[in-house]
Amino acid sequence: MADASALRRYSRRTFLGWWLASLLTATVVAGGLPILVYLWPAAPSGQKKKPLAIALDTPLDQLEDNSATRILTPTSPNAAFVMADGGGDNAPGDLAFGGFVVKAGGKVEVFAQNCSHLGCSVAFNTDAKTFDCPCHGSRFHIDGTVLRGPAAYPLSHLTWKKGDSPNQIQVEGLELGF
Ligand code: FES
Repeated sequence: MADASALRRYSRRTFLGWWLASLLTATVVAGGLPILVYLWPAAPSGQKKKPLAIALDTPLDQLEDNSATRILTPTSPNAAFVMADGGGDNAPGDLAFGGFVVKAGGKVEVFAQNCSHLGCSVAFNTDAKTFDCPCHGSRFHIDGTVLRGPAAYPLSHLTWKKGDSPNQIQVEGLELGF
């Protein structure tokens, strides 16, 4: 009889232990999952990274040194450029909806239009050969480096390659699926 009683007590303690452990696990999972989903959200279905074919107003072979031509993302379907690097308000992988193809010192580069201060769209100043931000006065040299703050970081590059003809380039982007 004494052995059976000890077994009953042990079994009840074991059961309660497992029950509490299960309750604790369920609580942690229920509380932690929403946080994990918030930190690492799943990519919306239909979004696809791919090179975007962009038509140029000024073909590459006619782009003069120290000049820039504006590019915009396609809208049918909607797409965005993906920044290759960044600092300040911009980071690698951030999206941009416009940019500039720039030729400076014989070298062609493509920049996102987003100011690295707080993300306003910069404009190319054809007289000064600078990119000027209308929001808080930041200015960037034609090579994307900072000429005047408050921006502290250069413009972000976009990854690109030549297209099928001089008036087209391929820019790394994301089809947004809507
Ligand atoms: S967003 Fe460009 S200077 Fe502030």
